[in-house]
Amino acid sequence: MKFFIDTANLDEIAEAQALGVLDGVTTNPSLMAKEGITGEANILAHYQKICDIVDGDVSAEVISTDFEGMVKEGEALAALHPQIVVKLPLIADGIKACKYFSDKGIRTNVTLVFSAGQALLAAKAGATYVSPFLGRLDDISTDGLNLIAEIRQIYDNYGFETQILSASIRHTMHVIDCAKIGSDVMTGPLSSITGLLKHPLTDIGLAKFLEDYKKGNQ
Ligand code: E4P
Repeated sequence: MKFFIDTANLDEIAEAQALGVLDGVTTNPSLMAKEGITGEANILAHYQKICDIVDGDVSAEVISTDFEGMVKEGEALAALHPQIVVKLPLIADGIKACKYFSDKGIRTNVTLVFSAGQALLAAKAGATYVSPFLGRLDDISTDGLNLIAEIRQIYDNYGFETQILSASIRHTMHVIDCAKIGSDVMTGPLSSITGLLKHPLTDIGLAKFLEDYKKGNQ
């Protein structure tokens, strides 16, 4: 399973990259705003900085909601760097734009996916990635993991190559459950990656090994 980090924070991206397990980055307009990145030139410059840090795919989301606008924005984003994946919302014009980019060999991430039917449409339009929002479904007492499993089944039934990018990951158990289901990718906060390191028996065991080493090597 690929690990993406869901942030526009350069320090967090660098920390995850340094760990050696990072495969990419996803951003969205809210995450860019959180970092205070505003204005077209600054936004493009920030994507360039992210691409310089990470060795993998970087999803950059369009703001337009009409086909022509999405194509214009998406082409500018894709031209910025070969690592950029154009992120499009799952609306009719987003699906049309996805097909357009797919036909041109430009990679896409179809986002804001909350149903298996939406994921089927994204795959039919040739999306590189589809992003079902697991955590936001869980937030409203709907089984987000079940959606990931449904999409896995549908894509496997027909051999769709679209990769399931489980998004809106909140914690380490989401990561583990997505891996068990066979999600191709997960994107979450830095804590959902570094949290996988933690086990008290590892810490206790290491402390004991070091203590015993000291005793024998004084
Ligand atoms: C997906 O690409 C989105 O950026 C993201 O995962 C949304 O997560 P949130 O529900 O934590 O905002």
